[in-house]
Amino acid sequence: MEEISETFIKNVKEKIKRVNTLVEAKKMKVDILGKNGLLKSKFAEIKKLSPEKRAELGKMLNDAKREIESLLLDKIHELKKMEEQHKIVEKSIDLTLPGARRNFGKLHPISQITQECVDIFNKMGFEVVEGPEIESSYYNFEALNTPEWHPARDLHDTFYVNDGRLLRTHTSSVQIRTMESRKPPLRVISPGRVYRKDYDSSHLPAFFQIEGLVVDKNVSISDLKGTLENAIKSIFGNDKPIRFRPHYFPFTEPSIEVDVSFPEGKGKWLELLGAGMVHPQVLRNVGIDPKEWQGFAFGMGIERIAMLKYGISDIREFPRNYLDFLKNF
Ligand code: DAH
Repeated sequence: MEEISETFIKNVKEKIKRVNTLVEAKKMKVDILGKNGLLKSKFAEIKKLSPEKRAELGKMLNDAKREIESLLLDKIHELKKMEEQHKIVEKSIDLTLPGARRNFGKLHPISQITQECVDIFNKMGFEVVEGPEIESSYYNFEALNTPEWHPARDLHDTFYVNDGRLLRTHTSSVQIRTMESRKPPLRVISPGRVYRKDYDSSHLPAFFQIEGLVVDKNVSISDLKGTLENAIKSIFGNDKPIRFRPHYFPFTEPSIEVDVSFPEGKGKWLELLGAGMVHPQVLRNVGIDPKEWQGFAFGMGIERIAMLKYGISDIREFPRNYLDFLKNF
């Protein structure tokens, strides 16, 4: 009996040591120490023995019970801790793993440049105005001092609509609409889409311009130069060399074109925009007295700005909208 008990106790202790899951350990606790557990049955066995034997084995079993209890509790505690730690590791983030990349959408480069220009002119006190893309020839040409015989009105250059209207060839039409509907002083810009019958590496049938118009008293060409210089340097950086050159537009007198050097330092100039002092006849066309008010105006191609700024040689990249291209901006 003594031997059996000792072996039994030794076996139980071994079993407890080997257990390695919390579920198993808890089950073992019930199996050994529970109401119908192994130890209970051993205690029942010794009741049948003689009083001396009973006392001796009873003490042994009681000692064993205490020991087993503490062994089991320690084991359960240890396994609980281990499982908790496992859970923490499972839940925690592995900072060495590559991140999950999120692809956010963004504005098209032309929209970005437009926004940038609008911000720059807003800071100089210009307000944004808009006009229609389908325009009468009056607003697009005649009111801008561009008579019927002018080459800009060639059927081959302009998209005409059946009812005699046309897709505006420039945003300058918005100058007329603005001066007709508002009283000077005026300081406005008008970004928008314009159309011409053109398609090659530097021309698109539909492209974007920003028009600018100032009408006020005592406005001179030095105001125009200062405004443009400030805007161009804000867009391209202070070091960008720029050049003003005389030109001809029917709606401005005098007229100029502004070039920026490109690529930097190679002595090559590229045309950036057209501008000038609003022609007195244009002011008269909208009922503004040129003796009292003067104005300057300018118009620039947004794709042209983007091409110069980012060194893009083919304008057709912009409407093509390939992601590989767009992702660069
Ligand atoms: N409308 C002209 C064009 O599309 C650009 C332009 C030139 C606009 C001179 C102006 C200006 O306002 O004063 O080529």
